[in-house]
Amino acid sequence: MPNSKERNDEAEVRKAPLFSALDDESSATLRESMIPVKVSKGSTLFKEGDAGDRLYVVVEGKLKLGTTSADGRENLLSILGPGEMFGELSLFDPGPRTATATAVTDARLLSLSNDKVIGWVTQHPKVSLQLLGRLAQRLRRSNEVLADLVFSDVPGRVAKAIMDLGNRFGVQKDDGLHVNHDLTQEELAQLVGASRETVNKALADFAGRGWVRLEPRAVVVLDLERLLKRGR
Ligand code: CMP
Repeated sequence: MPNSKERNDEAEVRKAPLFSALDDESSATLRESMIPVKVSKGSTLFKEGDAGDRLYVVVEGKLKLGTTSADGRENLLSILGPGEMFGELSLFDPGPRTATATAVTDARLLSLSNDKVIGWVTQHPKVSLQLLGRLAQRLRRSNEVLADLVFSDVPGRVAKAIMDLGNRFGVQKDDGLHVNHDLTQEELAQLVGASRETVNKALADFAGRGWVRLEPRAVVVLDLERLLKRGR
């Protein structure tokens, strides 16, 4: 009998697009063919430019996907948590890894080699549809991020980033939505695409207005409506 942690892991993994179209039996078979990987906080799983031979599903913990410009500046594309998949671009569009994956917290993952992914996709058309759906979602989100970089100011982007992290990692409590993002101020700034100073100023302004409470590596959203409006 699986214990409660194993049941929780199972529930998270089955949210991933590779699994979401599968019945219990196929899901268990797929899981058996995946290799568990552990990464400790701060360590790099792979680097932008590396050759990619497998994709990953997050079971527990958080990872960041980032790119570095020629002059050394870093930009974060996404923060991933349980049930999210990454590392598939270099498989479907053969080429080097498009981003560096680093653990933000200690994390556990499952990995599946490219040849096995191809096997599953060709045998289970519904799995391909789920993967296409996830890629389409990501493109939609990337378009939005691009539009925000052009049309929104930094406070608007900060509000949006908090809401996005809140949707995925937030826990509603009596005093508000606790968003334990686990990011440093520098990482939050890299995610928003602005300097640390400007992002801190926006956060301090939100806190001053009573919309959020700032905690180390977390934000508690006290006035969701105002924050939503600011991020629109
Ligand atoms: P791959 O290029 O193999 O390795 C880096 C991974 O980061 C990539 O596959 C995707 O899974 C993921 N990735 C790349 N760009 C984005 C993005 N804009 N948003 C979210 N994830 C991304």
